[in-house]
Amino acid sequence: MFAFCSRILEAGDLATKLAPPTAEDFEETDPPPDAPPLRPARDPDIAMRGGVEALPKPGALNDPSARALCLARFAHHELMAVEMFAWAILRWPDLPIEIRRGFLGTLRDEQKHCRLYLDRLAAHGESLTDHVLSDYFWKHASAMSESPAGAASFLASMGLTFEQGNLDFSPVYRDAFRASGDEASARACEQVHREEIEHVRFAAIALRTLGELDGLGGLDDVALYERSIPFPLSAARAKGRRFDARAREQAGLSPVFIEYVRSARSPQELRAHPDAGPRSEDRS
Ligand SMILES: [Fe+2]
Ligand SMILES: [Fe+2]
Repeated sequence: MFAFCSRILEAGDLATKLAPPTAEDFEETDPPPDAPPLRPARDPDIAMRGGVEALPKPGALNDPSARALCLARFAHHELMAVEMFAWAILRWPDLPIEIRRGFLGTLRDEQKHCRLYLDRLAAHGESLTDHVLSDYFWKHASAMSESPAGAASFLASMGLTFEQGNLDFSPVYRDAFRASGDEASARACEQVHREEIEHVRFAAIALRTLGELDGLGGLDDVALYERSIPFPLSAARAKGRRFDARAREQAGLSPVFIEYVRSARSPQELRAHPDAGPRSEDRS
């Protein structure tokens, strides 16, 4: 298990990062690793950098170049997720084996999602190397690594913020691809959406399990999330504008936690509108 994860972080090329784990990789036959680096190796043609241009709006997808930009961005989110699940297994090697196997199973799904989007990108005549790649997930790794909440900070960040947010984004872009006539890309978004529901479910269950192991079994999902999520991430980042409450129910999130995320406000929003309640347009 550990050697497989180290390979994903240490190899700079896409083919190694997207090679799926074998049945043996799910077993713990290799010695625990040293602490992993806070950035993965990347060959120059897929190197990450800070900022990137804004994602095209859903209404812009009639333009094939806007579709390609979205597909490249989505593929790279999946690639970062692959690397971050490998990193989490190496960073917290003493987690219960069931949780690490869950991470590895999720990693395998993220590899599949990355390939789905890369195939659609290739159908537009482009590849990941044609695009600027942001380090959006990786720039939060050091905060997770240093968090006193330990692996719970990774579950709250990756599963209950980034992946939960994707429950809203993936159907919006599915519908936009469909409206543009790109049914194959719409189906890719739909498959990712379905499987991300399971990833969010796993994160919520694993966060509760870690809470019980830490003697925090009396805390509800909101309290567990709040004590685990590292600054500057927050529930305001765990959603898009079209809030999909049903997907969250399917993921087994509690009604109280769903409402907490739905009504969450970013610090910027609170500064701009200190008296504002939940946004009515968020209602699904
Ligand atoms: Fe994914
Ligand atoms: Fe995922």
